[in-house]
Amino acid sequence: MKINFQKNFNQENALLLIPCLDQGQNIPEFLKQWVSERVKSQQFSYEVGEHVSIFSSDEDKPAHSIVWSFGKAKEVTNTKIRSTLAKAIKHLRHHPVSEISIMLNADFLKYAQEIGEALALSNYNPAIYKTGKDREEAQTKIIQKINIIAKDISRVQKYDLEEGLKIGLAVNQVRDLVNGPHNLVNVKTMTDKAKEIAAKNKYGLKILDKKQLEKLQMGALLGVNQGSHEEAKLIVLEYLPLGKRQEPTAIVGKGVVFDSGGVNIKPTQGLSEMHMDMAGGAAVLGVFSLLKELEIKQNVIGLIPLTDNSVDATSLKPSDIVTSYSGKTIEIGNTDAEGRLILCDAISYAIRTYQPSQVIDIATLTGACMVALGDQLAGMFGNNKRMKERMLSAAHETNEEIWEMPIHESHRKAMKGKFADLNNISDTGLGGACTAAAFLEEFVEKTDWIHLDIAGPAM
Ligand code: BES
Ligand code: ZN
Ligand code: ZN
Repeated sequence: MKINFQKNFNQENALLLIPCLDQGQNIPEFLKQWVSERVKSQQFSYEVGEHVSIFSSDEDKPAHSIVWSFGKAKEVTNTKIRSTLAKAIKHLRHHPVSEISIMLNADFLKYAQEIGEALALSNYNPAIYKTGKDREEAQTKIIQKINIIAKDISRVQKYDLEEGLKIGLAVNQVRDLVNGPHNLVNVKTMTDKAKEIAAKNKYGLKILDKKQLEKLQMGALLGVNQGSHEEAKLIVLEYLPLGKRQEPTAIVGKGVVFDSGGVNIKPTQGLSEMHMDMAGGAAVLGVFSLLKELEIKQNVIGLIPLTDNSVDATSLKPSDIVTSYSGKTIEIGNTDAEGRLILCDAISYAIRTYQPSQVIDIATLTGACMVALGDQLAGMFGNNKRMKERMLSAAHETNEEIWEMPIHESHRKAMKGKFADLNNISDTGLGGACTAAAFLEEFVEKTDWIHLDIAGPAM
């Protein structure tokens, strides 16, 4: 997608979107009278999302202008700008054009980053595996070029808009990975992507293979992998712009490239969606595709344990006992609770190797979290109040819905093993999102930590 900045519109801007607010802000002179007549005759009332089309054959005017209300100026927030603009763009995608123009004054340019994000996010093409006519049809719905018409845009606002666009495009790449089925997005695809990102940005990269994982004795990750044809890997990405001056933040993403459930096989319903069980890992790749580009001044380590969870004669069996990298032993109560097994080894490895100041893990960990919160909210667990507050405020700013969840003494107790130190499930099955978090907590030692269960939002 190409962005072009213009001071004024001209006739070549054939399809022009004009966002406006309830006092007519941003409506150009030539349309003011026309719009106010529509307001008087109650054909337009500045409700969020309301829009009117104006056609013109004048030489100096766009052939088709769409005035789109963003509602009351007093109620505008960055989140509202992002979502309202995204809806408008999705509407414009139904027009048979590959180029659109958007007029923006100071009221909107305050939100330049959110505008850039909305432009990229709303222009996502999910039909990348179609061919022929269907592919063409999907392609015509993609906007290839956007002209930003803004008289008084500052250098900072231009930069912010382009930054928002980069963020949105990175999210779209994550969507492609999460949407891709297992035969097209697997351990190799994920490690290839990590190599590409590391080479482009000159990051440190280790990809630990099965032999190295065996040497390190990562029995939990290897246990999940033992019924697979594709060998497990652990991706470790290093972005250390501050060198030794700062302990890094470690971000660990669940990378189960297909979760069949293993011997505790999942029912048919929902099974075909389980190629998305690497969404946490894909999100970590998304973060790393941006760190350098956005010049983030923080040391960050990204870890992605990768494997599928398959059924085979060699698969892990319920009641098996594995020894994790930390040395703690784990009884396998259910082979479908595999995410916590691959995460616990990656978390321990991050802490022992890098002594991070904080660890964030992000995982499509439990269906129970979706039962508790629905499919729009991520569950947040953690052991540090300040860190959780910062996460919540970051989520608020970026329109991510996150809800804090508890780890109670009863959840910890429920995860004690009968024969080993821990069990990977609780007997009762109650509070499944909380007991999963209690299991992970066993591996974070004293490090500040947040666990995000993103099963719902990832779906
Ligand atoms: N990958 C699933 C969780 C999941 C479910 C993600 C639905 C997205 C949508 C996870 O590995 C799993 O199977 N969890 C089990 C745990 C149970 C066996 C304790 C679950 O949630 O049912
Ligand atoms: Zn599972
Ligand atoms: Zn899973």
